[in-house]
Amino acid sequence: MKKNRLIFILFLLLSVAITDRLYPKDEIIILEKTGHRKPPIKFNHQAHIDTYGTKCADCHHTGENKKCSSCHLKKDQSEILKLKDVFHEQCRNCHKKKNGPLACSRCHKKY
Ligand code: HEC
Ligand code: HEC
Ligand code: HEC
Ligand code: HEC
Repeated sequence: MKKNRLIFILFLLLSVAITDRLYPKDEIIILEKTGHRKPPIKFNHQAHIDTYGTKCADCHHTGENKKCSSCHLKKDQSEILKLKDVFHEQCRNCHKKKNGPLACSRCHKKY
């Protein structure tokens, strides 16, 4: 019976690993515009997860994998900052720490 239990535990670990991979099939997400001055950003969601080693919760900081705009609106709302500011804060803070790009044109580029 020990063997069955081991298989069961392996199965559990595997399902956790698979569940953690339930991100959108589109590897590139076109981010919601927060203004009209720059071209839309094509954000490589999959590369951030698979290649740059960032974790879901580094970005989806409430633990819910929802759109940022479901909480962060066009304008500040008491302690909840507006979408444009939190995008800049989150993207650039991590890039500062992990040597990601910081030049405007690296994120805001024409394709
Ligand atoms: C690490 C990525 C990143 C960098 C670097 C960055 N931005 Fe952004 N920026 C974003 C994201 C994400 C948004 C929100 C999505 C959007 O509105 O396109 C945004 C939004 C904006 C907006 C509002 C949208 C618009 O089109 O008017 C402006 C203006 C802007 N950024 C200017 C800048 C300037 C100027 C710099 C350089 C000093 C800069 N950004 C650097 C990621 C970045
Ligand atoms: C480097 C930051 C980052 C990481 C890491 C990350 N995401 Fe995302 N994710 C985003 C951004 C930004 C969006 C676009 C949000 C928006 O449009 O408001 C997004 C969108 C999503 C969406 C679509 C939400 C919707 O309703 O359209 C899902 C689901 C999701 N991510 C799941 C995950 C999962 C699961 C992981 C971990 C395996 C993960 N993400 C890792 C930043 C990230
Ligand atoms: C379920 C609601 C919810 C979602 C979804 C959400 N946030 Fe937030 N976020 C909050 C709340 C509430 C705060 C303010 C309280 C706090 O700091 O925890 C916050 C704070 C932040 C801050 C810190 C701002 C500061 O300096 O105080 C950043 C950066 C941020 N969010 C980025 C994002 C990004 C980027 C996404 C999408 C990938 C996102 N958030 C999705 C609710 C949400
Ligand atoms: C939790 C950390 C983290 C967050 C948050 C993050 N990034 Fe990155 N990003 C990285 C790392 C690490 C790299 C790769 C640096 C290298 O090795 O060149 C990178 C690379 C990039 C690149 C260049 C390579 C490519 O894929 O095109 C762009 C553009 C980029 N990020 C945009 C964004 C935008 C836009 C956001 C916010 C929506 C964001 N990143 C949020 C960590 C992060």
